[in-house]
Amino acid sequence: MLCPLHGPIWRENIGYFVDKYDKWSRYEAEDDTILIIYGSLYGHTESAANIVASRLAEAGQKNIAMYDASVTHPSYLLSEAFRCRRIVILSSTYNAEVYTPVKIFIDEMKSHNLQNRVFAVAENGTWAPTAGKQMREMLAFNNNVICDTTLTIKSALNESQKDSVDKFVNEILNK
Ligand SMILES: Cc1cc2nc3c(=O)[nH]c(=O)nc-3n(C[C@H](O)[C@H](O)[C@H](O)COP(=O)(O)O)c2cc1C
Repeated sequence: MLCPLHGPIWRENIGYFVDKYDKWSRYEAEDDTILIIYGSLYGHTESAANIVASRLAEAGQKNIAMYDASVTHPSYLLSEAFRCRRIVILSSTYNAEVYTPVKIFIDEMKSHNLQNRVFAVAENGTWAPTAGKQMREMLAFNNNVICDTTLTIKSALNESQKDSVDKFVNEILNK
């Protein structure tokens, strides 16, 4: 029987849970899924997240999980962050800050001491996109790696940004 401090008592499948605890305690990802989390006010950041996911899939990435931070409880996002090694975060700029649901997600990861993750960040802003710089600062905890390329969207992605999206996606795939 396993009686964890923060959870239900497990009486069956003990090996399955020991494996989970072993990975979580070492902050080792559970599989090779790329996690995409986005926060969007009017849908353009969501659209960019869909484009990034499509490009990743076209490049051969098999497992991709994507969540809208505005409608997903942070506990689900956090458990996905423990499962996945590479995490792409896209956020609208909101009153010169990271959009609140995305901010909460980042705070949760930090509070739970998540480690050894690769992050890529994309920001959207209509007049002054500042979410990217702030997310980079917020994600600089433990020994996370943050991809060099920040994808900047001015309201909506457009055709002329195809190369920027490719560069963004390639860096995620190569890390
Ligand atoms: C309340 C509110 C505050 C915003 N604050 C900013 C801001 O500080 N800087 C900026 O460039 N855009 C700001 N925006 C614009 C959003 O970033 C904009 O919705 C986004 O760039 C478009 O993406 P979306 O369709 O995913 O919302 C704001 C929008 C709203 C509704």
